[in-house]
Amino acid sequence: MTPDLSVSIGPISLGRPAMLASGILGISLEVFGRIYRSGAGAVVSKSLSKEPWDGYPNPTIVGIKGGYLNAVGLSNPGAPYFAKMISQNKDVPIIVSLVGSIEDEFEFMVKQFENSNVTAYELNLSCPHVEKVGLEVGDDPRLVTKIVSRVKSTTKAPVIAKVGLGTTNYLDTVKAAIDGGADAITAINTIRAMGIDVETQRPLLSHKIGGLSGPAIKPVAVRCVYEIASKYKIPVIGCGGVSTWEDALEFIFAGASAIQVGSAIGDGWIDVFSEINDGIANYMKKKGFSNISEMVGLAKRF
Ligand SMILES: Cc1cc2nc3c(=O)[nH]c(=O)nc-3n(C[C@H](O)[C@H](O)[C@H](O)COP(=O)(O)O)c2cc1C
Repeated sequence: MTPDLSVSIGPISLGRPAMLASGILGISLEVFGRIYRSGAGAVVSKSLSKEPWDGYPNPTIVGIKGGYLNAVGLSNPGAPYFAKMISQNKDVPIIVSLVGSIEDEFEFMVKQFENSNVTAYELNLSCPHVEKVGLEVGDDPRLVTKIVSRVKSTTKAPVIAKVGLGTTNYLDTVKAAIDGGADAITAINTIRAMGIDVETQRPLLSHKIGGLSGPAIKPVAVRCVYEIASKYKIPVIGCGGVSTWEDALEFIFAGASAIQVGSAIGDGWIDVFSEINDGIANYMKKKGFSNISEMVGLAKRF
């Protein structure tokens, strides 16, 4: 029997377990279509703000041992622009990532998508290098609850809270998102980090401090998924350093209902999705699993 690769993340149903993480390939519908057809279960857009943002000057992304450092500065054309762009989209499951400082901004943005086919919203409560948004919001649990509950009352679409590692215990941010009515949690975003060029003594990024992604953060992300899934009942989407089917399974065994892939496709390597699907399907056949849900959280038995 062919294993079933479909997943349920609370109210969200996807045909395949791995999705494109936010911010990796921008917002092009053509690219999103290619990613979906190459085997992704959904795509998450670049985080969109109420108004267009320019972002930081170059260099904004630097490859280092074990992954990437980035401080792009959330450059994006604004939620109204993207809403218009995807209003005709029917085929590709798009999760719209939103970033802002207060609940009014999120409400405004969600209203832009009233006539669009949005699979879910992912609230970026975790970008570690832009002031007053992202991680600074995630570090304020009361604000997190207010934002999530406002978004929940503005739309019927599922709402995912994306958390990261800030100065507040991220498990308190998760709790605040649950209190606001979040349907799922994505964990984690990039981790605050820095690199310096020894020859010139200059920081590698123009913004100096940015976020670390890629294989180097995978064990941290797996730990976070495991802790969230052990402590709370909410579905978790694992993100951080996934580049193989084994990585994806590690997150699933830690308690993730689905996974996101970011840095691994930063170089345009979109075959990663079909390789993850094939690898998981072969593993399921070998081990006698028929559904992905049977494997979620198996590491918690030990
Ligand atoms: C260049 C770049 C841009 C990113 N932009 C966003 C973003 O706009 N919103 C967001 O929530 N996460 C953003 N992220 C974080 C990723 O979605 C992901 O959480 C992180 O990179 C860890 O996954 P990975 O190790 O598979 O890359 C970005 C990451 C990178 C490398």
